[in-house]
Amino acid sequence: YEELQPALMAAREEMLKDIELLGSDAIPADKQPLDAGFQNLPQQLLDEYESQGSESLLGRIEAKAQELREQSDRFVVLGIGGSYMGMRALFEALCHPLHNELTRDQRGGVPRLYFEGNNVDNDSITALQELLKTSCLDPKDVLQRWSMTVISKSGGTLETALGFRLFRESLDAYYGADSEESRSLVVPITGLEGKLRNFSNHKGYPEVFPIPDNVGGRFSVFTSVGLFPAAVLGIDLKALLQGAADMTRLFNSQPMGDNPVLDYTATCHLFEREKNVSMRILSTWGKRLEALGLWYDQLLAESLGKEEKGATPLTVVNTRDLHSRGQQHQEGVRDKLITNVIVERPDSEPISVPVVPEEENQDQLNKLKGKTVPDVLSAAIEGTNQAYADVHRPTADLILPNLDAYTVGQTLQMLMLATVLEGRLININPYGQPGVEAYKKNMQEVLSR
Ligand code: PA5
Repeated sequence: YEELQPALMAAREEMLKDIELLGSDAIPADKQPLDAGFQNLPQQLLDEYESQGSESLLGRIEAKAQELREQSDRFVVLGIGGSYMGMRALFEALCHPLHNELTRDQRGGVPRLYFEGNNVDNDSITALQELLKTSCLDPKDVLQRWSMTVISKSGGTLETALGFRLFRESLDAYYGADSEESRSLVVPITGLEGKLRNFSNHKGYPEVFPIPDNVGGRFSVFTSVGLFPAAVLGIDLKALLQGAADMTRLFNSQPMGDNPVLDYTATCHLFEREKNVSMRILSTWGKRLEALGLWYDQLLAESLGKEEKGATPLTVVNTRDLHSRGQQHQEGVRDKLITNVIVERPDSEPISVPVVPEEENQDQLNKLKGKTVPDVLSAAIEGTNQAYADVHRPTADLILPNLDAYTVGQTLQMLMLATVLEGRLININPYGQPGVEAYKKNMQEVLSR
């Protein structure tokens, strides 16, 4: 661990230097550390809000989000990859687990949420179109109104572009073709140029949010990509960004041992280098963390899976997956590092195990008298870690005091910083995804036949 310190410090220096180089006139555009902008962005957005208030990007995001909240009861988010996974992680971690089932009042006046444009799935597209058609009959009634955002940095991603065309047709059919009303219910989020930007200019959508050039797709959760839909759902953007900004500060300044980014990266890297541990299991203890894990799967796989290098990520949700993958993690190939993500306090009151009359105690659960559901979960975590330790299988714990916007902001930023840092350590450019282009090129060729 000590031996790795100079290499880690050098990698961190490189990342700090990336920020200085960004936007520097002395560096030609093609030599800029293109996607490093995510590192300082959370603090920049907070500062801009502090000085410019409603004129700032955050101010504009909050204003448009409030308009959509008041104007619609269903909200469709179109996007794929980095333009989708981050928002899904925020939604599942920070909104009510049964959000779409609640009444508008129970949801705090925010709309239901649907994701599309993230696949080419006829049944799924049809299902949402039919749901909107049959549950929205009177465009004057807010409970029967819907709105959407389309997110694509490049503007050229087929899945999202196709979804946009299809759902735009539905929206126009409902509110009147190309009416001012239908335009005000569509919010494009895109890069500074590209097909979606051009189309948005042509259509004259009243609000189009930008994705900065220097933030790559899977690092974009704290740009408009994640922030705007999160704001529509009433998620506390300032707390989210504060968590991320504080994590960057910690990373930039603290030594190993007090620095979660350095410590996590060192642990993962050393196990891979010294013990051929190339599977990274993110073992989430709670259903609300599943999408965060899937977001991380994409982040690690797309950033470091290059030049025949890079660990393979896999998210599990426990205790559920102890009953599916647990066997392999306990006794399979010794190629896994298990990182537990543990939330110390649930949002809801701990449920006590009910005690029943002795004659009904066939399930033998009366012995849990005085215990709560979180106590049972803690026992499962301890028992599982012990079982792995007994057979010398490595585990690490990432502990979140609770699941709120601040801790989720910290966690996402920590994992993004760690991914780039590890890229520097193994000499892989974490930005870009040249390997994804192959399927796209072939698909376009097939379609043009
Ligand atoms: O991480 C990435 O850059 C990718 O996963 C992209 O986010 C994804 O391909 C979607 O791209 P776009 O936002 O340009 O539609």
